[in-house]
Amino acid sequence: MSYLMSNYTPLKVTFVKGVGCYLIDDKDEQYLDALCGVGVVGLGHCHQDITKTIQTQAANLLHTSNWYHIQYQEDLAEKLCQLSNMDKAFFANSGAEANEAAIKIVRLHGHANHINNPTILTANQSFHGRTMATLSATGNPKIQEGFTPLVSNFIYFDFNNIKAIKAHENNNNIVAVMLEPIQGESGIIIPDKNYLNQVQEICNNNNWLLILDEIQTGIGRTGKLFAHNYNNITPDLLTLAKGLGNGIPIGACLAKGKASQILTPGTHGSTFGGNPLACKTALTVLEIIEKDNILDNVLVMGEYIISSFRNKLKNSNKVFEIRSKGLMIAIELNQDCSTLLQKALNNKLLINITGQTIRLLPPLIINQYDADILIDKVSNLINTL
Ligand SMILES: Cc1ncc(COP(=O)(O)O)c(C=O)c1O
Repeated sequence: MSYLMSNYTPLKVTFVKGVGCYLIDDKDEQYLDALCGVGVVGLGHCHQDITKTIQTQAANLLHTSNWYHIQYQEDLAEKLCQLSNMDKAFFANSGAEANEAAIKIVRLHGHANHINNPTILTANQSFHGRTMATLSATGNPKIQEGFTPLVSNFIYFDFNNIKAIKAHENNNNIVAVMLEPIQGESGIIIPDKNYLNQVQEICNNNNWLLILDEIQTGIGRTGKLFAHNYNNITPDLLTLAKGLGNGIPIGACLAKGKASQILTPGTHGSTFGGNPLACKTALTVLEIIEKDNILDNVLVMGEYIISSFRNKLKNSNKVFEIRSKGLMIAIELNQDCSTLLQKALNNKLLINITGQTIRLLPPLIINQYDADILIDKVSNLINTL
């Protein structure tokens, strides 16, 4: 009997140690982690510089609350704003909370502009989190089922269809468009090259704010620090989490221009958000990404893995489509492949499956040796279907 609530269905394996791209279970078996704790541990498990930072910071100071100045929070805000061309940061503990902050900011912005029913456009098949506001923002009825009444004033549009957004131009209640540059949870759905540019143009023309949820795509996952760097745009709000702390919980909502001036004392807060441990760790993550040229590795390994898959699977009648950007990789099959999850585990490989799609989010530090193991294991799995 477990005392845990039943909202998860964990696989029957207990990991006790992590080293780089590998997790080791309580029977001393080693698994290649091609999922990274769902896109979190990008720099690999127990990276020595991060471990050192955590150890040192834990010995110095863990938490003070936001009632006092926190220097590492200032430093991280400055660093993230410089890297993203944003102006201000708010720190939270998770992706959903980062998005909550963005949603609250655009609602305040709407009211400040005398819009009494501020409404946000979000995409079908998106994923923005599990809190009430973020699951309401999530354009997926499965995530929302059983939780009505939802937080109101979200309108859903079809992703990668610019007309679907334009159709709302006459709605005076719209204050923002919120979207993932690449839809992660719904199976790595990559829009057309100029889609984000077009969305930003519509936002500019209508005085709407653009919220980019880069919780999964950010911090190097796609080969740029942020996926929207491929489009040379700057959103009004940018949310981050996952890879930012490499396993230490942290979320960030960055804001630009007018969006950065909206929160005033008392309008938002978090007890834990932006504590010295999380901020110092995130600073170390960003340092390592720069120092070790991690983005180059993501591009090179991403290209290597995807071309190897295309080559190896070219004659497979089971593959419908292979999609990727950097180390966000999806292999969509033409049949349900849920059974592969357990088979992969038996083969000492950790992946994600959603319906017909195998999703891979391997560590950003993966090298060719481990990439070859990954390619072999996944290709062999597909052949077992
Ligand atoms: C794009 C996106 N937004 C938000 C979230 C929610 O983040 P968290 O689980 O940290 O609340 C996720 C998590 O998968 C995500 O992929």
